[in-house]
Amino acid sequence: MIEDFTYYAPTKVVFGRGAENKTGELVAELGCKKILLHYGGGSAGRTGLLGRIRASLREAGAGFVELGGVVPNPRLSLVREGIELCRREGVDFILAVGGGSVIDSAKAIGYGAADEERGDVWDFYARLRAPRACLPVGSVLTIAAAGSEMSPSSVITNEDTETKRGYSNDLCRPKFAVMNPELTMTLPAYQTACGCTDILMHTMERWFGGGGSMELTDGVAAALMRTVIKNAKILMAEPENYDARAEVMWAGSLSHNGLTGCGTDGGDWSSHQLEHELGALFDVAHGAGLAAVWGSWARYVYKENPARFAKFAAEVLDVPRGADDEETALAGIAAMEDFYREIKMPVSIRGLGVEPTEAQIKKMSAKCAANHPDGMGKMKKLFEDDIERIFRAAM
Ligand code: NZQ
Ligand code: ZN
Repeated sequence: MIEDFTYYAPTKVVFGRGAENKTGELVAELGCKKILLHYGGGSAGRTGLLGRIRASLREAGAGFVELGGVVPNPRLSLVREGIELCRREGVDFILAVGGGSVIDSAKAIGYGAADEERGDVWDFYARLRAPRACLPVGSVLTIAAAGSEMSPSSVITNEDTETKRGYSNDLCRPKFAVMNPELTMTLPAYQTACGCTDILMHTMERWFGGGGSMELTDGVAAALMRTVIKNAKILMAEPENYDARAEVMWAGSLSHNGLTGCGTDGGDWSSHQLEHELGALFDVAHGAGLAAVWGSWARYVYKENPARFAKFAAEVLDVPRGADDEETALAGIAAMEDFYREIKMPVSIRGLGVEPTEAQIKKMSAKCAANHPDGMGKMKKLFEDDIERIFRAAM
């Protein structure tokens, strides 16, 4: 069955070599005058990108203040600092220069700075109330991964409670995304692989929902996943291959802007929820955390819909489709894990370099279940016991 859907992708994409030099122009087009230039821990400064962005903003006559220091699994404390800075300085636009962490931090600052009630920004992530507005956000993307440059989501870690939570609202969809694939050539191989894994997972989560899909959506999804798998392998050998960088970068945006979910029930998202618990407790890279749990999740649920897993195996991973869907499904899960190994991603929690104690497994499972009181996921509803079993199987 084809589900009803709303597709909304309002972000203007400026893609290609030198695209970052158009940033000032893009901000000026929006009529914004005081920018918060938000960035991460150092790569954008080291590569000279920040210098080019500052020049572009000055040329366009835009004033700006700066806040760097966003870390992967972006922290609530820096978000609060950013909100105060925006209020003090009368900021009317937030420019994120970086990856998913910087963009997500920018979105959270945007909510907090625009929220008239001036309550705590974490309320949105804890689902206590909804924001009424968000300052406009734009990005210059430096890593193809999270898809935050076109998505309505923002994921923030509250370091006081060791809780990582996502919040989705169209209010924060970026006004523009500047994407120059060359900017991603300085990424460490591990981050490139984490990014490719996350991009794949955003379409896989949608593929493995609990409802139907569309022939067209499945075709787009399979083409996207095949493209990422092929080009991820190329990038492991040739990190400066422009075409491979470009294919992966565009796939990252399309994988999480809703396109590969049209006509589905929205997808499962359990692997993401499991990763959020690992990320909150052990500060692991998001993509690697997903690779570590996906196989265990898949083996736990595949009997709910073996045909869907078999179709994935055949159309994405070229596994010969035999008469028995369960066999093909299992071969597909193994083939996906082989791909993760090939790009040096972990396929277990220990492979991430962490060793949760008994108490920590229980804590992660309880927190994850408490966040989904009606059961987590769409392929199979998972409760605390199920979640604990998947974490244990993934060890
Ligand atoms: O801080 P710097 O020095 O820039 O280093 C970063 C960081 O260490 C580095 N990096 C980025 N671009 C680089 C570079 N190093 C060299 N050259 C470059 N061009 O890469 C590291 C990772 O950056 P990060 O922004 O954390 O990566 P990613 O884009 O994977 O974002 C991960 C975050 O996004 C969230 C994740 O949970 C995680 O917190 N997600 C956000 C989503 C969304 N908003 O829609 C969806 C995703 O499912 C995901 O949950
Ligand atoms: Zn993700």
